[in-house]
Amino acid sequence: MKFFIDTANLAQIREAQSLGILDGVTTNPSLMAKEGIKGAENIKNHYKEICNIVDGDVSAEVIATDVDGIIREGEELSKIDPKIVVKVPMIKDGIKAIKYFASKGIKTNCTLVFSPGQALLAAKAGATYVSPFIGRLDDVSTDGLQLISDIRIIYDNYGFNTQILAASIRHPMHIIECAKIGADVATCPLEPILSLLKHPLTDNGLTKFLEDAKKFS
Ligand code: G3P
Repeated sequence: MKFFIDTANLAQIREAQSLGILDGVTTNPSLMAKEGIKGAENIKNHYKEICNIVDGDVSAEVIATDVDGIIREGEELSKIDPKIVVKVPMIKDGIKAIKYFASKGIKTNCTLVFSPGQALLAAKAGATYVSPFIGRLDDVSTDGLQLISDIRIIYDNYGFNTQILAASIRHPMHIIECAKIGADVATCPLEPILSLLKHPLTDNGLTKFLEDAKKFS
């Protein structure tokens, strides 16, 4: 299972990278805005900086919603660095653009996916990744993890290569459940990743070991 960090914050990306378990980064326009990144040149430089920190794929989202605009923007983004994955919304023109990018060998991440049918279309178009938003489904009293299971079954039935990138992850149990289902990637903020480290029995056990170690050192 790959771990991506879902942020445009360079300090958090560096911290996750320093753990040695980071496989990539996902961003979106809201995350870029949160960091105050404005203007085409600044956005490009920010993506470049992210690519310089991490070893794996870095998703950069297009703003256009028409096929020509998505293709134009996506091609520009893909020139920034070979690690860039063009993030395209799950809309009709997005599917057309994903098909085009696939034919050109440009990696894509189909985002804002909330149903198995949408995930099926993304895979048919040749998306590299599909991003089902589990937390946002949970927010509206719908089982986000069930969507991950449904997509896993569909992709396995037909051998689709599109990787399931579980997104909108809010807590460590989302990560564990996604791993049990077989999501290829989990993208989440730094906090849920760090929460995986925590167990009170680990802390208590270590305290006891260190106390006992003093007895013979
Ligand atoms: O990057 C997309 C997704 O992970 C957003 O998460 O928490 O805003 O629903 P959230």
